[in-house]
Amino acid sequence: MCGIIGYVGPRVARDVVLAGLRRMEYRGYDSAGVAVVSGGALHVRKKAGKIANLDTALESDPLPDTGIGIGHTRWATHGGPTDGNAHPHVSCNGRVALIHNGIIENFAQLREELQGSGITFASQTDTEAAAQLLGLEVAAGTDLAEAMRRVCRRLEGAFTLVAVDAAEPDRLVAARRNSPLVVGVGEGENFVASDVSAFIEFTRFAIELGQDQVVDVTAEAITVTDFAGAPAQTHPFEVTWDLSAAEKSGYDWFMRKEIYEQPRAVADTLLGRFNPDGSLKLDELHIPEEELRGIDKIIIVACGTAYYAGLVAKYAIEHWTRIACEVEIASEFRYRDPIITRTTLVVTLSQSGETADTLMAIRHAREQHAKVIAICNTNGATIPRESDAVIYTHAGPEIGVASTKGFLTQVAACYLLGLYLAQVRGTKFGDEIAAVMNELAATPPLIQQVLDSLDPIIALAHQFAEQRSVLFLGRHVGYPVALEGALKLKEIAYLHAEGFPAGELKHGPIALVEEGIPVFVVVPPQGRDQLHDKVVSNIQEVRARGAFTIVLAEEGDTEVEPYADVLFTLPRVSTLLQPLVATVPLQMFACELATLKGYDVDQPRNLAKSVTVE
Ligand code: F6R
Repeated sequence: MCGIIGYVGPRVARDVVLAGLRRMEYRGYDSAGVAVVSGGALHVRKKAGKIANLDTALESDPLPDTGIGIGHTRWATHGGPTDGNAHPHVSCNGRVALIHNGIIENFAQLREELQGSGITFASQTDTEAAAQLLGLEVAAGTDLAEAMRRVCRRLEGAFTLVAVDAAEPDRLVAARRNSPLVVGVGEGENFVASDVSAFIEFTRFAIELGQDQVVDVTAEAITVTDFAGAPAQTHPFEVTWDLSAAEKSGYDWFMRKEIYEQPRAVADTLLGRFNPDGSLKLDELHIPEEELRGIDKIIIVACGTAYYAGLVAKYAIEHWTRIACEVEIASEFRYRDPIITRTTLVVTLSQSGETADTLMAIRHAREQHAKVIAICNTNGATIPRESDAVIYTHAGPEIGVASTKGFLTQVAACYLLGLYLAQVRGTKFGDEIAAVMNELAATPPLIQQVLDSLDPIIALAHQFAEQRSVLFLGRHVGYPVALEGALKLKEIAYLHAEGFPAGELKHGPIALVEEGIPVFVVVPPQGRDQLHDKVVSNIQEVRARGAFTIVLAEEGDTEVEPYADVLFTLPRVSTLLQPLVATVPLQMFACELATLKGYDVDQPRNLAKSVTVE
């Protein structure tokens, strides 16, 4: 949500900034802008719509070549997506240009105060209040970094701010509170950005800014302080992936590429986390085993796809550990006054590590003295930094807005955590844990097998390209898979899609079934109580009412054949691990159908990749 980049160095800042904005397009945006400093003045271009509109504006009215610039892709909150509301915002005295990610909660009060003292506002944004305050400070002679600190002390809410001053052609300043910002450390050049993908082309060395810090950046120096001006501790890190991981590599969409990366992503998530004898080793879990043994409740908090991964995890964790496990949508969590004690373990799932709802939920949990373990894909992001321990998913950058490898690797990491807890607490024998672990370790080639057999799914997307409504059914861990299949279709193909527990259908939703409606059914492997047979009955129920049934069942399952209009066979895995193979065809169905409809699969309307506002 909102992409931010700033550059100081010998290159043409405009080009670096535009390239960075393109790499962050995946975050979601509806306007874009750039500002550079040259000849003692600010030069700003900004346009509603895609970066292509900004490119056109720059062609007719070019920016000067200069080594300092800032750029922004905006996802509208306060004020619509217009040219005027696009960032950067310039203070009315012409001194500073400023970009912002987040929400300034006390902007109305600041605006009123500033207007009262004669300041004219040019936009409806909350951001402009910060730009005006900063402009006043520097015009009064305050040093730029100190001016930024003073402004930050007056702001409430979440913000990343980056600013340049017309009178300082070699320097930019940035600040962060509750919103991401990383500094890219080059040789004789430096960067600031919302995420490393913006500057990975130029450097893999980065510094993660902490909460409430201001950074003063020139081509040669980076100085970090807290909001009071005291020198601050920073966290340098080296990015482990390279530019190719942030590019499409011949695929039409990042989403499709990321679907195909899943065998590797799951393998990397499992890598180094179990011993040859099948026992688990989660060295990064710096919570004493003693404490893990004392846990009497687990609460998983997450949003969207990550929440569905949490629903899968619940089945596995409860089965292996016998600890009660709740799963909660993060945005609901703290408002219901959840029962949390020192013996509650909160597990948070977040691909981006910046989701504001999830962040607020874990802060609430920690205030109540719960231990928090984050399962996250983004090194050094806010959520893992504010948790007691973290299990990184190692999926590589996920750029398509619709999460795919994020989901599979979150599920895989939850299995690791569940098995580890079972090991520590002794709720499973070592050989039982080893058996599951060995099966889990063997899943990447099976995911590949699914990827190699997706032709029938592609054909179905063509068959149903004009369809208005699609249903997904599952039971047990197949239920969250159904929810995830429906979410993928909603978000990228804009279809009415619903996921249901198959047994719940007769209590209402079956009324939605009409002649020809496609219904995907995730059938559990045979052999677990009557689960399989129940689902077979559910397929018959919808088919009897005219549904076109697309049945996902394990190979060799002949029992479902008579009831499947299309049968897609899944490799054999045990029930709890089935989401790792069953989700993949549903991801591809959505990706292909959205492609056929001509939609922007990687950047669906109204959505942002990293949702940094509550
Ligand atoms: C759906 C999707 C979202 C995210 C959700 C949480 O495809 O991507 O539902 O899963 O916004 O995001 P993270 O995992 O970054 O916290």
